[in-house]
Amino acid sequence: MERYAELQAGFLWERARTELAGLPHGRGLNIAYEAVDRHCHEGRGAQVAIRWHPKRDDPIDLSFDDLARGSSRFANALAELGHVGGHGVATLAGRTPELYLAALGTLKSGGVFTPLFAAFGPDPVAMRLDLGRIAVLVTTANHYRRKVLSKRSELPFLRHVLLIDGGAGEFDDPTVLDLEPAMAAAADRFEIGPTDPEDRALLHFTSGTTGTPKGVIHVHEAVVAHAATGRIVLDFGPDDTFWCTADPGWVTGTSYGIVSPLVNGVRSIVDEAEFDAERWYRILQDERVDVFYTAPTALRMLQRAGADLAATFDLSSLRLVASVGEPLDPESLAWAQDVFDVPVLDTWWQTETGGIMIANYLTEPVRPGSMGRPLPGITAGLLKLDADGAVELDERGEPIEIEAAGDIGELALESGWPSMFRGYLDQEDRYQRSFAGRWYRTGDLARFDEDGYWWFVGRNDDLIKSAGHLIGPFEVESALTEHPAVVEAGVIGKPDPTIGAVIKAFVVLTGDYEPTDELRRKLIGHARKRLGPAVAPREIDFVTDLPHTRSGKIMRRLLKARELGLDEGDLSTLEAPIAGQSSGEETVGRSR
Ligand code: WT7
Repeated sequence: MERYAELQAGFLWERARTELAGLPHGRGLNIAYEAVDRHCHEGRGAQVAIRWHPKRDDPIDLSFDDLARGSSRFANALAELGHVGGHGVATLAGRTPELYLAALGTLKSGGVFTPLFAAFGPDPVAMRLDLGRIAVLVTTANHYRRKVLSKRSELPFLRHVLLIDGGAGEFDDPTVLDLEPAMAAAADRFEIGPTDPEDRALLHFTSGTTGTPKGVIHVHEAVVAHAATGRIVLDFGPDDTFWCTADPGWVTGTSYGIVSPLVNGVRSIVDEAEFDAERWYRILQDERVDVFYTAPTALRMLQRAGADLAATFDLSSLRLVASVGEPLDPESLAWAQDVFDVPVLDTWWQTETGGIMIANYLTEPVRPGSMGRPLPGITAGLLKLDADGAVELDERGEPIEIEAAGDIGELALESGWPSMFRGYLDQEDRYQRSFAGRWYRTGDLARFDEDGYWWFVGRNDDLIKSAGHLIGPFEVESALTEHPAVVEAGVIGKPDPTIGAVIKAFVVLTGDYEPTDELRRKLIGHARKRLGPAVAPREIDFVTDLPHTRSGKIMRRLLKARELGLDEGDLSTLEAPIAGQSSGEETVGRSR
């Protein structure tokens, strides 16, 4: 493997692009072609692409040929229903083969694929289906009945619902169909139409601190980054077995759970079940997994299950473990390195960046607690912030870059890599505001050291990272205030040793309600029903009022300072490290 310095010196995105096939007859670039059909045309069709572990039964192998035929059937089924280009297709489902076929089939047919997190409740689901103008929803009868049915009349764009597990009869609605017969009736060949690399391919929703979630637009060109970063960071080789534990409802589960491994021709494990330490170790062992991509929360959950459990499994097939989504604290890193006995590589990126941007590499020494260094082809910068968290400009109106190692600023990336988002759907202003000159502002606070390693410090906004999921406080506050007992709510992330942060709400009640434990339970139940368990608050405090800024915004930072017993006057230290993180390297705070 090339060392970092050489790789960086010789890297050009244009050259990375030439590793891809492109559509036959110069018809452009399509993610699904690179991920699936190309392998079939080049004689690798019989290879296992996905080894699927259902919750209970024995694993099932899907070859590249299987994926090619299945995704073509899905594309033809869409066409049969009149969806032929630019149409939005969403999935709301667990990790089942149909989800993968729907994703790839949508891309083949020129549609835009939106994965929705199956643990979302009805509110976040309806909001995203509406914002994304989703025309086709692929889901199960249960999800449809529980989360979509009652809001169907408010979703005029939704033309068809395809049920993975059948049972459409129950709904007595000609737009609700069973997926299986629709696919069985469709041809298993589909010619992908001309695809411009700038055509929209993926729409991922990510939270904002205010207003509606942001629909992050990615185009087919993104596959250039998915392919290259998989090789460079995850070290994909042709005989590898890879396991990305992320759910496809979030960007990691698409970029590295679907596209990157398939494009690189590696065998992927897909596990339908939720986290279970013993099951995970067994899969790592029995499947002889080479490369394991997971999240710090998952590593800490494995850690909690104990090293004794780990010791009963043979994990010797592993070559590298990588993590993403939240800070990988030095203790968790040390534990994982010990148990897996391989390098554990932190990687940093976002929904907006589409692929890994900053990472540690197999060939380079790891600095515990550091996110590593920018990928070849990526330029990271640090922007100076004023006391309000705004980017400071020089006299020419250009953002001021921090040049000194150790100073804290906002992490920014020079625009122009293939998987950079191309917009926030219908929110041009918000999109423009995320740039300062040639820099894309990530919203993260960071610093770098003398050797160019980057260190995560915190967020420059109120977004909450819980179990690796980015949660907008506004969505949670809105669900709470819909309850008749609630006048106002302020939501923060309260540091948690395992999942990084738990959602905590401060609630002001109307005069008609008493702050009782029973009401607290009711409100939590209400939020869980609306939002789903991953997003709902776990703790609620009743308060008589909430602190506001002059312009009327809830001062969530102050709520957090009070919760953590920090000095309220000095809001600079608000981004607290998660418990268990070593001090020193993880110094936190905002530069002013
Ligand atoms: C935010 C992006 C990466 C895809 C899944 C999450 C945080 C991500 C790290 C890391 C510290 C990290 C950042 C970032 N984050 N990776 N290695 N160390 N923080 O995508 O939901 O868009 O979240 O996750 O705050 O901005 P996302």
